[in-house]
Amino acid sequence: MIKVGLLGLGTVGTGVVRIVEGHQEDLLRQTGSPISIERILVQDRAKMRTVSVDPTKLTEHAYDIIDDPGINVVIEVMGGIEPAKTYILAALEKGKHIVTANKDLMAMHGAEILAKAAEKGCDVFYEASVAGGIPIIRTLVEGFSSDRITKIMGIVNGTTNYILTKMSQEGAAYGEVLKEAQALGYAEADPTSDVEGLDAARKMTILATLGFHAQVSLQDVEVKGISQITKEDILYGSRLGYTVKLLGIAERQDDHISVSVQPTMVKHSHPLASVNGVFNAVYVYGEAVGETMFYGPGAGELPTATSVVADLVAVVRNLKLGVNGRETFVPYKEKKLKSDEQ
Ligand code: NDP
Ligand code: HSE
Repeated sequence: MIKVGLLGLGTVGTGVVRIVEGHQEDLLRQTGSPISIERILVQDRAKMRTVSVDPTKLTEHAYDIIDDPGINVVIEVMGGIEPAKTYILAALEKGKHIVTANKDLMAMHGAEILAKAAEKGCDVFYEASVAGGIPIIRTLVEGFSSDRITKIMGIVNGTTNYILTKMSQEGAAYGEVLKEAQALGYAEADPTSDVEGLDAARKMTILATLGFHAQVSLQDVEVKGISQITKEDILYGSRLGYTVKLLGIAERQDDHISVSVQPTMVKHSHPLASVNGVFNAVYVYGEAVGETMFYGPGAGELPTATSVVADLVAVVRNLKLGVNGRETFVPYKEKKLKSDEQ
């Protein structure tokens, strides 16, 4: 029996419970082990939940999970930097494997967390941190391990794409659609990070770090969000044959890497122009493979939980094989960034 401690029972945590409980037989077939969510950390045990859980599993004390020697895997879906970082490092110290959806943490402290995991012989997987239900991290790390990637570009924030789509197709007001995206569970706890492009910048930092085998720093990403985009901008662009999209673009040329996030006029005929609503798409260019594009839901309860639980399956398979990690997640080599020259 694999015992899991879940940190967080919000949008994503709820999806994780639903998938682990609803897909027990499939997970057993995939891993050869029954999986049980033993304890769940929440802020408020008395809060109404949208999924039925045994109330004795809920705790407001993270160390009930971290210090429990029976728990093999900790899934962190609470969000934010602290206390999530402290809890993850403490769980690694105790030899527990980690699955997280936390892009803030992985973009800013990923190297430290991965180094601790390597020291302790533990896995840290974070597929859900970028593009929700699209398995883009696995694809970059494993699928393109034979190639040299030179460009990663895409729509990596569901909330802003949902807002831009509704403004463009229905003439909806920015503030109203943002509220809808929050109610649907797409937006971050503080949606400023979505609309100001920071969430996308964190995701592009992770993608560029993995795709280019370089430690890309969030501070090196040029960021502009969509909060200043008006219905008129969208209408005017459309008349000229363009759709406004919040695009993340990461490129490398020789030893130089540049990463940016900004609202961009995309030609109606370009495949990224027809990525609508909460959907994301990531275009990857590799020197050998050429152009590829990956499309799917970028946020939301079940799509995101699909990625989280797939990471859990990977951890359990590794546990059974007695191996750790995908080695390629760990070694970074320093690359010169454009900003180093300024
Ligand atoms: P929510 O805000 O919906 O849920 C957060 C959960 O964590 C809640 O259950 C909350 O408890 C608990 N929690 C938060 N802080 C603490 C704390 N200090 N102590 C104990 N419990 C705490 O977040 P989401 O599910 O939307 O997001 C979780 C993570 O997944 C974030 O890192 C986010 O960026 C990432 N993510 C989210 C996606 C989405 O579509 N929502 C998609 C991809 C990634 P309580 O319920 O009692 O308040
Ligand atoms: N707030 C994020 C988004 C969640 O809208 O894309 C998925 O990472």
